[in-house]
Amino acid sequence: MDARTNAYAPYSGFTVGAAVQTKSGAVFTGCNVENASYGATICAERAALAAAVAAGERELVALVVASGAKSPTPPCGICRQCLAELTPSLPIRSYTGGARAEYDLSSLLPDAFGRDQLD
Ligand code: THU
Repeated sequence: MDARTNAYAPYSGFTVGAAVQTKSGAVFTGCNVENASYGATICAERAALAAAVAAGERELVALVVASGAKSPTPPCGICRQCLAELTPSLPIRSYTGGARAEYDLSSLLPDAFGRDQLD
């Protein structure tokens, strides 16, 4: 929720914060960063993922998403694909207000395309 306060969402008005915890115990946060070229928008989940990787951390153990939606929201398809690159069965929690939902990435993105298919 703290990360969400830094979201840049002048077009949608939908602010999102995310945090990933890595195997070391460190937590990396992100928020959505929109762009006048709408498709260039970065979601909060991918921003948090990029922060972890930039810090040299690639083993994700959990992801939390926070938004102001009516009910807890799961990550979008692009974020599912990006998160699955490092941790295909990542546990995910989503919060909005007092409500919470839990997911496992492998259920959200079954039969994911991955690096094995490139061999
Ligand atoms: N968004 C996220 O940051 N994460 C999600 O899980 C869903 C969508 C952002 C993208 C865009 O800035 C805004 O929310 C509306 O789609």
